[in-house]
Amino acid sequence: MYYFSGTGNTKWVADRFKENFALDNINIDLVNIESVEDNKLKKYDFFIIGSPVYAEFPPKIVTDFLNKFDDSKKKVKIIVYSTQAASSSSAPCFMAKCLRKKGYLPLIQISIKMPNNYYFFVGKKPDKNEIKELLLKANKKVKDVVKNFINEEPVIETASFIRIQFNKMIYNIFKSRIPKLSKNISSTKECGKCGLCLRNCPQGNITFEEGRAIFHSKCILCLKCIYICPINAVRYKGKKIEQTQKDIIRVLDLNR
Ligand SMILES: Cc1cc2nc3c(=O)[nH]c(=O)nc-3n(C[C@H](O)[C@H](O)[C@H](O)COP(=O)(O)O)c2cc1C
Repeated sequence: MYYFSGTGNTKWVADRFKENFALDNINIDLVNIESVEDNKLKKYDFFIIGSPVYAEFPPKIVTDFLNKFDDSKKKVKIIVYSTQAASSSSAPCFMAKCLRKKGYLPLIQISIKMPNNYYFFVGKKPDKNEIKELLLKANKKVKDVVKNFINEEPVIETASFIRIQFNKMIYNIFKSRIPKLSKNISSTKECGKCGLCLRNCPQGNITFEEGRAIFHSKCILCLKCIYICPINAVRYKGKKIEQTQKDIIRVLDLNR
């Protein structure tokens, strides 16, 4: 399984896949795509790809990874899933299409609704009960699709052509606004320079200057820095953000 996860949701789901496949004595190796240097894949029986959704599509770090994915000569089966705040997105269709072109066979293509980590920009802040309920439902969905996969029953969630085309427009607008949006991230003078954000930024976008964390121009808006800061000193538009992902982000294998 290859995954990217900014604030833990996609990794949380990855762990559920691993757990549920283990019940059938199938071992899943979890690989964070940030740690993949070349895309020479080992020989596996099947692959799982997991991604969060940023403006309806996977972030660039995931699409770059998929574009470099080795071709498959033998129609190796794949599972693709996205996690997002809404019930669905165009991301699984996009990921499956990309891998189908390379000779893979998408057997499971699904969206999994998870807590909204960008509620301070769009949508509603998830409360504790809602988060609990979302995790229960996500777990059930993973359990069900693992059974489907083992029984070779396809589960393909699609999005209409019009939705995908419209969302492409939204994504392109979002992409062009990332540099501006990422300027909204800053740290306060309370920053203890512990280095956790610096060591775990997927873009290597953070340095320490003048006694605090400074965010440069390579940000992809994954929001990891906001949610992992142990003293909640990373601001968005100067505002303190309630760290609603605090429990979930613990599932990431962080560089301590
Ligand atoms: C920059 C950004 C854009 C997002 N856009 C969407 C979106 O278009 N639709 C949606 O349902 N959720 C959106 N979300 C919410 C995330 O997709 C969701 O919380 C996801 O599960 C986060 O996964 P992660 O914790 O593995 O990073 C967005 C989040 C971020 C940070």
